[in-house]
Amino acid sequence: MNIAIIGYGRMGHEIERILVDRGHQIKSIIDQDNFEEIHDLNTEQVDVAIEFTNPTSAYANILHCFNANIPVISGTTGWTDKLAKLKQISINENKGFLYASNFSVGVNVLFALNKMLAKIMNTFPAYAVTIDEIHHTKKLDSPSGTAITLAQGIIDNVDRLNSWTLADHSTNDILGINAIRRGEVPGIHEIKYESSFDTLHLSHSAKSREGFALGAVLAAEFMQNKIGFFEMNDVLQLNTIS
Ligand SMILES: NC(=O)c1ccc[n+]([C@@H]2O[C@H](COP(=O)([O-])OP(=O)(O)OC[C@H]3O[C@@H](n4cnc5c(N)ncnc54)[C@H](O)[C@@H]3O)[C@@H](O)[C@H]2O)c1
Repeated sequence: MNIAIIGYGRMGHEIERILVDRGHQIKSIIDQDNFEEIHDLNTEQVDVAIEFTNPTSAYANILHCFNANIPVISGTTGWTDKLAKLKQISINENKGFLYASNFSVGVNVLFALNKMLAKIMNTFPAYAVTIDEIHHTKKLDSPSGTAITLAQGIIDNVDRLNSWTLADHSTNDILGINAIRRGEVPGIHEIKYESSFDTLHLSHSAKSREGFALGAVLAAEFMQNKIGFFEMNDVLQLNTIS
């Protein structure tokens, strides 16, 4: 496949390595210093674009790909307020778009397990639920997009909870997310249900960025010639499980 990489930072570099390993051609690498080249992207040259930049530029970058009719996958976090709008455009105007707050296969399994556990814990109100997430100190957004997805999976299935807050404790109706920034940690997420008698943990710990990058490349392979909105559940066929 012919790929454009938009955002050549830590993730962009890791994705480039995996694309080459899997025999793909990288036709364009766009970062801040050659940003104007995004206007030259076209379907003759590029099958799929992979976007990992920052919360302020993701929306415009994805719209550029829509305008050029290039299916795009994005993993940029911290801008979810505008995600619904792009999702709607991709569906209404037949643009190929896949978004994931976390591309790791293990985390997407965790998302499915998290929803299942939440459905069970809905009948045990004595347990307070919290989410802990730890990431490297250069991460711009807090809490992580992954923690927000986990929180939403819990809120959708536990009747007594209706929102989340950035704090290390939960109240009766608000789920607390404790976000810690430390060293070079690629990403740790833990869901904790606690009663007076015991604690139940569900957790995932990334060993490196490679798992996210591989998931992004699998998603790009899935998106070739696709139109409409997709998620990692579609790539990994997890929809029927949770
Ligand atoms: N979804 C996932 O699985 C996953 C995994 C890891 C990181 N992330 C997210 O991906 C994003 C990137 O992470 P990173 O660690 O590579 O960050 P990074 O800071 O190392 O890289 C971001 C790159 O984007 C470039 N950039 C900024 N504005 C741009 C623009 N308008 N056009 C093109 N390039 C531009 C920057 O110069 C930089 O090189 C972050 O939002 C991070 O939270 C998501």
